[in-house]
Amino acid sequence: MKDTQRVDKILSNFGFGSRKEIKQLVKNGAVKVDGVVIKDSSIHVNPKESVIEVAGEILRYREFIYIMMNKPQGVISATYDNRLRTVIDILPDEYKCFHLFPVGRLDIDTEGLLLLTNDGQLAHELLSPKKHVPKRYYALIEGNVTEKDAHAFKEGVVLDDGYKTLPSELFILKPGNYSEVEVVIYEGKFHQIKRMFEAVGKKVKYLKRIEMGKLKLDDNLKTGEVRELTEEEAKLIKAVQTAN
Ligand code: URA
Repeated sequence: MKDTQRVDKILSNFGFGSRKEIKQLVKNGAVKVDGVVIKDSSIHVNPKESVIEVAGEILRYREFIYIMMNKPQGVISATYDNRLRTVIDILPDEYKCFHLFPVGRLDIDTEGLLLLTNDGQLAHELLSPKKHVPKRYYALIEGNVTEKDAHAFKEGVVLDDGYKTLPSELFILKPGNYSEVEVVIYEGKFHQIKRMFEAVGKKVKYLKRIEMGKLKLDDNLKTGEVRELTEEEAKLIKAVQTAN
């Protein structure tokens, strides 16, 4: 990104309206840059260095932003779709200016931890097949999940297209006709967990991602809610960039 940008462009990215509306705001004396009221909305400033104030409120500019979402069912992990609601559509307005995108995909009927960011480099590394970033899921399975299945997951199971999965971990929380389990996988094939259970003759009824790398889903986030990562969490997730 260029270091300096037009003030009206910055403000429109922050959701302050159209260029025309912003011009009016500036005319009204509502916008200050480094403590000085500006008169021209086309001036260039560096949002990383300058303090921009609108009607007394200081804009909290950050180049990269990291958001945790507890993804609800019924929305797709994409930035745009002409038919279905996306995870971007359900973001609060205050985040819409940051050009966020989801890091990886959860199926439309999968819930849970989804990281949204505009940090392309981090996303690339988290998704790199070479990094083997662990992803932990809670699942409700139709059928009695057994230690035999856990063993099969550890060895790798052969999916419907002939692909043999990498070793994964299956923890049986509650066996029964409907079993509760947790699964940790180190790759991210299409519908991977569902297809792994199909490979052992069982069906996923409910799926929720609860961890990605060292980042854990905040239990206090209701489905559909988001919050920014804390500095500590951002550090944890960025550790992938120094790991082999
Ligand atoms: N595995 C699946 O089957 N679906 C998901 O959404 C994620 C992992």
